[in-house]
Amino acid sequence: MNNHNPINCRISGDPLEEIIDFGLQPLGNGFLTKEDFQDEYFFNMKLGFNQNSQMVQLFEQPEPEKMFHREYAFFSSTSTAMKKHFQEFYRYIINSSYYSSDNPFVVEIGCNDGILLGNFAADGISHLGIEPSTNVADVANKKGINTISEFFSEKLAMKIVQTNGKADIVMSANVMCHIPNILNIVAGLKTLIKDQGVLIFEDPYLGDVIKKTSYDQIYDEHVYLFSAISVQNLFNRFDFELVDLQPQSTHGGSMRYVIAHKDQYEIQPIVGNIIEEERSIGLDNMISLHEFSENIKQSKEKLISILKEIKSNGKTIAGYAATSKSTTILNYCKVGSQYLDYICDTTPIKQGKYSPGMHIPIYPHSHFLENPPDYAFLLAWNHLDEILNKEKSFIDAGGKWILNVPQPRIL
Ligand code: TYD
Repeated sequence: MNNHNPINCRISGDPLEEIIDFGLQPLGNGFLTKEDFQDEYFFNMKLGFNQNSQMVQLFEQPEPEKMFHREYAFFSSTSTAMKKHFQEFYRYIINSSYYSSDNPFVVEIGCNDGILLGNFAADGISHLGIEPSTNVADVANKKGINTISEFFSEKLAMKIVQTNGKADIVMSANVMCHIPNILNIVAGLKTLIKDQGVLIFEDPYLGDVIKKTSYDQIYDEHVYLFSAISVQNLFNRFDFELVDLQPQSTHGGSMRYVIAHKDQYEIQPIVGNIIEEERSIGLDNMISLHEFSENIKQSKEKLISILKEIKSNGKTIAGYAATSKSTTILNYCKVGSQYLDYICDTTPIKQGKYSPGMHIPIYPHSHFLENPPDYAFLLAWNHLDEILNKEKSFIDAGGKWILNVPQPRIL
């Protein structure tokens, strides 16, 4: 074990209070071969909260280079629903009042394979993608999307301003919550964004995670679980303002945040409304977070009892989709090959490998069609509609789904 180890809040510097300890966990995207089993990396995954910043965050996190590298296994463009979502995100930006410049320059932090930025590139809009995982950045470049393979930082922001000028729009999706040194990132954004420019980003939303006990959003890459309150606190430190919010259904419940330099845009009423709602459900204190921790423990017991019952009836179970989010559930609940015969997944880089920590074999989707189990544990529950639609023949043949959210159950 070799952890990146700040025990204090990454924003206020104050000590963190423990919400829950998940014990030793592998990398969420750490799909591996048999030869790598004995060197597998684990870290102690503990979730904490700090009253000053009101930010929910991991105590420890592996070094970024361990998670985002030459063989990063997550490609955004694997789901048709996500492609549609990012087309809508693109249309939202270009039709918004924040997008008014004649010759705009758009930057995306963590552009992955270009699922969002590609829409701007296709329209001939001046753009730049920043993607530290070189294999995914290569895919974006091959699609004609200008992408550099680096971690975003204040230093890189200065370099971009010198070379390309300041940005009208900086955007990111499912990336900001991955970045431990977020203070440096926000300082960089202060440099990079024009006076009238904005940052528009979205990430999984703490409100949904708590409401649905979807603790699978907690894994090594997600160092933060944002709320409107914590995001507002963070950006206010740099004379930015949270001016707009838009709840999203992606990743089982996300939030889109619009951030502008102070006094440049009117603050939309939804900002005050959502912050008030967050206070009323207690997203700003430890009482609700202790309750969340109890709900996670109950969810674990329920899942194990469902799986045990199915196995005691001599039935087979397979996992459906080798998502990074399932790593926490499988390892925390110790669900391995004693329950799941295999996990099927459409991503070629994951196929033929084993799941992080529990070492369940991962097969292509065709294996699921040829060897359907009695029960499929839906590990990509956020794509429920798309998958149920696609797997009508499994259901027609008597196949059943196991779901873990909002509580473990058979569908
Ligand atoms: P996603 O929810 O984006 O995963 P993560 O938790 O890693 O963020 O789901 C993407 C994964 O799910 C990817 O490995 C592909 C797989 N998948 C399938 O195998 N079949 C499907 O029909 C869908 C929608 C996803």
